[in-house]
Amino acid sequence: MNMGPCIHIFDDRREMTEFLLRRWRQIALECIERKSLFVAALSGGTTPAYFYRALASARDALPWDKTHLFLVDERCVPFSDDDSNYGIIRSLLTEGLNIPEGNIHAIKADGLSPSKAAEAYEAELKDFFSLKGEEVPVFDFIGLGIGADGHTASLFPGSPEAEEPLVPEKNRIAVAVRREDIKHPRISLTLTVINNAANVVFIVTGKNKAAIVKRVAEERDQGFPASRVEPLNGTLTFVLDADAASMLK
Ligand code: 6PG
Repeated sequence: MNMGPCIHIFDDRREMTEFLLRRWRQIALECIERKSLFVAALSGGTTPAYFYRALASARDALPWDKTHLFLVDERCVPFSDDDSNYGIIRSLLTEGLNIPEGNIHAIKADGLSPSKAAEAYEAELKDFFSLKGEEVPVFDFIGLGIGADGHTASLFPGSPEAEEPLVPEKNRIAVAVRREDIKHPRISLTLTVINNAANVVFIVTGKNKAAIVKRVAEERDQGFPASRVEPLNGTLTFVLDADAASMLK
């Protein structure tokens, strides 16, 4: 049963990052205690950079050998491209960590058609989570951002992929997204997967996000994919700085 979103607002970037670190560590240690594994999916974008750097500096304080990192979404570019989320997460987070190479799961898109790359990622997830038939992965932690247009992951307003849960015929796990208004085709986890997670955390900062944060976190305006993040059995948390929260009641 969904308990509705929990909203945490921070005046200070350091406090916000410390909160995120505590939350990450609490979930990671609980999962590893229970099932010897902690599986997270991380977003790209600029906002989470502080958090990824802080996770990296936590180094041996976290059980990286039992932590698996997947991507929420990816641009169809080489990993060396500045737009590659894998490249961003490698440089900010995993480079200096003692995390086994096999624990970092990139979305291999370069040289593949977007639909083939989505199929390959979906197959990797099915294999990793030992899924059968229509089963959907259960991530322990999914970190998301929100675009000023209300997109999250690479699920954009008006995109058929963002309607995915309303299309009952098949639970898609990963989809290819092509749009006129985005530079590269992308691969994204679906809302079905995001809403199946145990803990979903939005990290949003900046005055330019205040209006969309009000529409999403407070009004839950279903016209925006970010508002359709409603974990079925998981927690939903908004971690905001004062600017991003400045229009909330
Ligand atoms: C991405 C993210 C995307 C991002 C938002 C917010 O890969 O870019 O999945 O959904 O979280 O666009 O981006 P900023 O954090 O840069 O504002």
